[in-house]
Amino acid sequence: MSVHSWTSWRTEGSRLKSTAIACANQGLIKYWGKTDEALRVPSNGSISVCLAALTTRTTVEFSEAIAHDSLVLNQRPSNDPRVFKHLDRIRALAGSKMRARVVSENGFPPGVGFASSASGFAALTVSGVAAAGLAMPLPELSRLARLGSGSASRSIPGGFAELLAGDDLHSVAVRLAGPDDLDFRTLAVGVGESPKKVGSSEGMRITTATSPFFATRLEYLVGALDRMRAALRARNGTEVARLAEVDTLNMHATMLTSDPPLVYWSGATLDVIRAVLALREAGTQAYFSIDAGENVFVNCRQQDVTAVRERLGGLASVSSVIESAPGGPARLVEDHLF
Ligand code: DP6
Repeated sequence: MSVHSWTSWRTEGSRLKSTAIACANQGLIKYWGKTDEALRVPSNGSISVCLAALTTRTTVEFSEAIAHDSLVLNQRPSNDPRVFKHLDRIRALAGSKMRARVVSENGFPPGVGFASSASGFAALTVSGVAAAGLAMPLPELSRLARLGSGSASRSIPGGFAELLAGDDLHSVAVRLAGPDDLDFRTLAVGVGESPKKVGSSEGMRITTATSPFFATRLEYLVGALDRMRAALRARNGTEVARLAEVDTLNMHATMLTSDPPLVYWSGATLDVIRAVLALREAGTQAYFSIDAGENVFVNCRQQDVTAVRERLGGLASVSSVIESAPGGPARLVEDHLF
């Protein structure tokens, strides 16, 4: 059942259990900074593409018989307070006090370094809302996902989506293009498995407070968002990829000039950047894009995937390459994880 058609859907009976799948997404015009930390209101609009090959599947069960919230993440017990806080938000909306059991699995091999709060909070939001028997229109669903993790809101509509800047109520994600509308492929290039030293929330706090380039970035973003929307309207995948590379360097300039400096790249990241630049010099239209970590997305047209994959696979510092088409919206599924 798609989230587009579930407004009349209700869970029957006292066992309130639901499973949802959501894709991770790659920032194309990236979100880095908040105007309200508690409500996760972003400083700027951001645009992303969902990644069909990087998904999270989450089951939520609310029950009177459960004494405490519990979470099993990739088959290991976890005590992530952000997840339990998100369950509190869903309970508040449902007027319920029932505790929940949550089981969540990433649909890609562990340790590839692309674990994502976006797919996780999008799947948790959709499964939790459904398990609580709530009916919720898409914008509200994406707002709720945003409260868990800003980028998660963009995984709700799927495809190419924009998280609008604005106040808490208006900062919701809208779809700009469907997953099949553009010739666009992403290679998720893994170079490291270690968790990033400074998480996104903390990193954003440091950058907004200290980078002398942050205000300049906000000015540049007005035009950058317009250019990205225009490239999506024109269905020009190569221009989308090029603009994402431009924005990567712009965002990382604010990270590098933060105090303390946020250097998310490793030597291996630079190896991939240089390989992409060499591919372009040789005539292949491939572009890099890097979120807050050392791993790299490389975006290109479908016909160039083999050439790009061969070039990157030959680098000693690359540990994994996952090819992904653009992905669809977060959705409910019938099969449960437990
Ligand atoms: C660099 O959504 O992880 O990937 O809202 O604090 O949970 P929180 O941040 P998060 O930030 C992602 C930032 C980014 C860029 C992007 O995805 O647009």
